[in-house]
Amino acid sequence: MYFRHKNTVTTDNNMNEIKVINTIKDIREQVKSWKQDGLSVGFVPTMGFLHEGHKSLIDRAVAENDRVVVSVFVNPMQFSPSEDLATYPRDLNADQALCKAAQANVIFHPTPEEMYPEGFCSFVDMDAVTKELCGKSRSSHFRGVCTVVAKLFNIVMPTKAYFGQKDAQQLAVIRRMVIDLSMDIEIVACPISREADGLARSSRNTYLSPSERQAALVLSRAIFLSEQLVKAGERSAPTLIAAMRDVISAEPLAKIDYIEVMDADCIKRTEELNGNVLVAIAVFIGTTRLIDNFTITL
Ligand code: PAJ
Repeated sequence: MYFRHKNTVTTDNNMNEIKVINTIKDIREQVKSWKQDGLSVGFVPTMGFLHEGHKSLIDRAVAENDRVVVSVFVNPMQFSPSEDLATYPRDLNADQALCKAAQANVIFHPTPEEMYPEGFCSFVDMDAVTKELCGKSRSSHFRGVCTVVAKLFNIVMPTKAYFGQKDAQQLAVIRRMVIDLSMDIEIVACPISREADGLARSSRNTYLSPSERQAALVLSRAIFLSEQLVKAGERSAPTLIAAMRDVISAEPLAKIDYIEVMDADCIKRTEELNGNVLVAIAVFIGTTRLIDNFTITL
């Protein structure tokens, strides 16, 4: 059990419960005391409704750090008015159980008012890396992501922070932000965690009806096919894109948002594959927008 006091959630004395902290002041004090003891702090930022994909990041953080903070915050700033902020799935009790099982130490779960108090008007904006892929159809999305992650980094001040390759552009954006703003934090990239049948794990998979869940397999099928083609020597982006388009177009419930081949670091389109390459797709299955990708160094 946990109890809510005004703005603060504290655990009861049951040591089986993971501690949930709601205020910036309290999480700062917690991390400060760990650092005074010379302990390293790993950080996994999330929007909650945690699944095995998130858990793979937490497991890695637990393995590599003395203490681990998981943030659970559905960040309003990264959703456009037409997106799913109101319906985004939430389940703090289940998140607590998963974090405890993974041996994280604390959940930071602020309210929107705690993160964005009255008068808030400072943002972290980025050019280049945010203009293509998801930045194209979700224009203010990465401004919201950069702003909240910069704030979370300033609040938690971790030694290392863990991000999933699943959101490849987000990873490139965060890496760029950390370099550009001279943030003293190591960014660790974790591989995509998939369901047994190949679907990349995502909190949004819960939106899918049984027939949509089946149809969603076109994403991983297209990604696996293009990965095979590249491994067999294919180096033409248009050829890969056409092959993936054929797979996805065969599924009546799927509507392509984008299929792109990019330089994985600067997120710029490339015709001939070389260096760090990102093959990324976004597809609507019914009204649910799903993404998948693979990266390869040639
Ligand atoms: P969220 O979608 O909850 O994801 C949190 C982290 O988990 C991200 O780094 C994401 O890439 C990773 N992740 C999600 N599904 C994964 C999977 N199947 N395999 C591996 N990693 C996976 O991404 C966000 O939240 C937000 O934008 C956030 C960074 C927290 C800022 O609000």
